[in-house]
Amino acid sequence: MTVERAPLNDMSRNQECWCGSGHKYKKCHQEIDDLISRYAAKGYATPPRSLLKTPSQIQGIRESSKLNIGILDFISGHMKAGVSTQELDQLVSQKTKELGGIPAPLNYKGYPKSVCISINNVVCHGIPSGRDILQDGDIVNVDVSTLYNGFFSDSSRMFLIGRVSADKQKLVTVAKECVELGIQQVRPWSFLGNIGHAVKTHARKNGYSVVKDIGGHGIGLQFHEDPWVSYVTRAKTGMVLAPGLVFTIEPMINMGTAKVVVDKQDNWTVSTADGKPSAQWESMVLVTPDGCEVLTY
Ligand code: MF3
Ligand code: CO
Repeated sequence: MTVERAPLNDMSRNQECWCGSGHKYKKCHQEIDDLISRYAAKGYATPPRSLLKTPSQIQGIRESSKLNIGILDFISGHMKAGVSTQELDQLVSQKTKELGGIPAPLNYKGYPKSVCISINNVVCHGIPSGRDILQDGDIVNVDVSTLYNGFFSDSSRMFLIGRVSADKQKLVTVAKECVELGIQQVRPWSFLGNIGHAVKTHARKNGYSVVKDIGGHGIGLQFHEDPWVSYVTRAKTGMVLAPGLVFTIEPMINMGTAKVVVDKQDNWTVSTADGKPSAQWESMVLVTPDGCEVLTY
């Protein structure tokens, strides 16, 4: 992760704010910039101005997020035993285009499909295939990422197929609680590390492990931006949160070891090293002046 220093305060109080709000700097971002500079001077990692979304960017990201949620809502009606993940990929692709968006995963760093679908011991980045048929008892993550009007959005949910064992159900529930507890840590002048701290504490309390090697990310203008978001952090560490930051909370919670392996053939599919199940939910959040706005879920 590259963490730049806060910008020098390069604006005068009565100038129009850099964010394009049309307000004077002193009535808009001056207070935020000053606080960021103060944290930076104390040696904390702080967000560069380029990561603080402007009001018009936030509007664009919100609209992209609405599509993203709509696509997941739509796909939830198709999560049944007997359906192949290839069919689900086709449905995500069609629905996204119908709504005027573009599936962000397709061709991203060579990724071959429009959505990631990860079943049971697959942690993330499962590639849809006609050979993967949903079965009774599966727990399945569908991770949808959308480009709309130049803005990116991302979210994922877990689905239970038919009758799922109690231990897998609990894993899915606790993984969701981890995201909710992470979201509760999101407010200005909190720290990115507080999120991971909340996540890992809850996961471990329930006997689960948290994947270390893969994290969340800033998002909005690009699919993956800074900051990188770890879920095994300590409180009061990492980047200081400031209004306008947008990032994902998407911890991967494992029933067994935290160790993961990447498929040597496709270079994408991430599975648990011990073959035990993994669960993940993903939300996108915006740090607002007084807390947090959940953009996707
Ligand atoms: N949606 C995934 C994430 O949360 C994106 C994986 S990259 C892809 O970051 F190419 F596999 F889509
Ligand atoms: Co993501």
